Amino acid sequence: MITTRFTKEFGIEHPVVMGGMMGVGCAPLVAAVANAGALGFLTALTQPTPEALVEEIRRTRELTDKPFGVNVTILPTLRPVSYEAYAQAIIESGVKIVETAGRNPEPFLPAFKQAGIKVIHKCTSVRHSVKAEKIGCDAVSIDGFECAGHPGEDDVPGLVLIPCTADQVRVPLIASGGFGDARGLVAALSLGADAINMGTRFLATKEAGVHENVKRKLVEATERDTVLIFRKFRNTARVFKNSVADEVVKIESKPDSQFEDIAPLVAGERGRKAYEAGDLDAGIWSAGMVTGLIHDIPSCAELVRRVVSEATEIIHGRLARCS
Ligand SMILES: Cc1cc2nc3c(=O)[nH]c(=O)nc-3n(C[C@H](O)[C@H](O)[C@H](O)COP(=O)(O)O)c2cc1C
Repeated sequence: MITTRFTKEFGIEHPVVMGGMMGVGCAPLVAAVANAGALGFLTALTQPTPEALVEEIRRTRELTDKPFGVNVTILPTLRPVSYEAYAQAIIESGVKIVETAGRNPEPFLPAFKQAGIKVIHKCTSVRHSVKAEKIGCDAVSIDGFECAGHPGEDDVPGLVLIPCTADQVRVPLIASGGFGDARGLVAALSLGADAINMGTRFLATKEAGVHENVKRKLVEATERDTVLIFRKFRNTARVFKNSVADEVVKIESKPDSQFEDIAPLVAGERGRKAYEAGDLDAGIWSAGMVTGLIHDIPSCAELVRRVVSEATEIIHGRLARCS
C-alpha cells in the first residue's frame, strides 16, 4: 500500500489514475480500473448525448461499487457541444469526481462544488496549475510533453514540469505523461507528486475496448513511435506515428497550408476505424512516448497491482540500500 494525500483526500486505494480517453473511457474499462483500486474516468464526450452519458454512468455502477469519475474535455470541436448539459448529467447522476481538461473550468466550478464534486484540472503548465488551484480545483493533474493527447505548446517534459508545479501548488498533484510502470510512480512521488495518471498504458490492457491490433502495436512500438500534429494551429496533439500522421505533418509544413487541408485526414470517424476495426492506418489515434515501456497486455488489476507492488519494492529495497 502506498498512501498519499491523493489516496486519502479522494478515497482511492492506490495513487494511480486513468485519465479521460476519448473513444476509450467507457464503462467496462473504467469499472475495471476502479475494481483494481485506481481512479478511472469515463470520457463525457465519448457519449453522443448527455442522456447517453447518464446511461454509461449507470452501466459503470453495475460493474463496480468503487469510486470513479467523469472527464470533461473542453476543446474546439467540429460539432457544437452543450458542456452545460453534460455537466448537469454528471451532477444529477451523483458522480463525485470530475477531471476537466482543455480549457479553464471556472464557469463549471460553482455547480460542481455545490453538488459536492471534487474537481481535478488537468493542464500542461505551471501557470495553469496555479490558476486551477486559485479558482478552487481540488487537485491538479500535470501533463508533461511526453503525454498522449494534448501536451500544450511549451514542450516541458515531466522531469522538470512536475517538480516546478509541485513547488507552486498546495493541492494534491497528479503527475501525468510518460508513466507506465513502478519506476515512474516512484519517480513521480520523488518529484513531489501524490499520484500518477496513465493513459496510453491503460490502452494496452485486456479491458480496454479497442481492437487487439492497437494493443499489439503498442507492445511492438518504441518510444520513437509518436509524432506531434496540429503544431501550426497551436492545438498540438501527440499521436501514434502512422502514414496518416506523417501525411498531416507533411501538409502542415507547407507555409500556406490551412486546417481545411488536413481536416479530412484527421476526422474522428477515421480514428475510430483504427480503434474499432484495427485498421491502424485508417486515421490518427492518440498514443504517448510511454509506448517504449509497454511490453504486455495485462488486465487492469494485474497492471495496478504490479505498479504498486514493484514501487513498494523499489522504495523499501533499492532506494533504502542507497546510502
Ligand atoms: C486514446 C487516448 C485518448 C485521449 N483522450 C483524451 C480526452 O478526451 N481528454 C483528455 O483530457 N485527455 C485525453 N487523453 C490524455 C490522457 O487522459 C492522459 O492525460 C495522457 O494519456 C497521459 O499520458 P500517457 O499517455 O503518456 O500516459 C487521451 C489519451 C489517449 C491515449
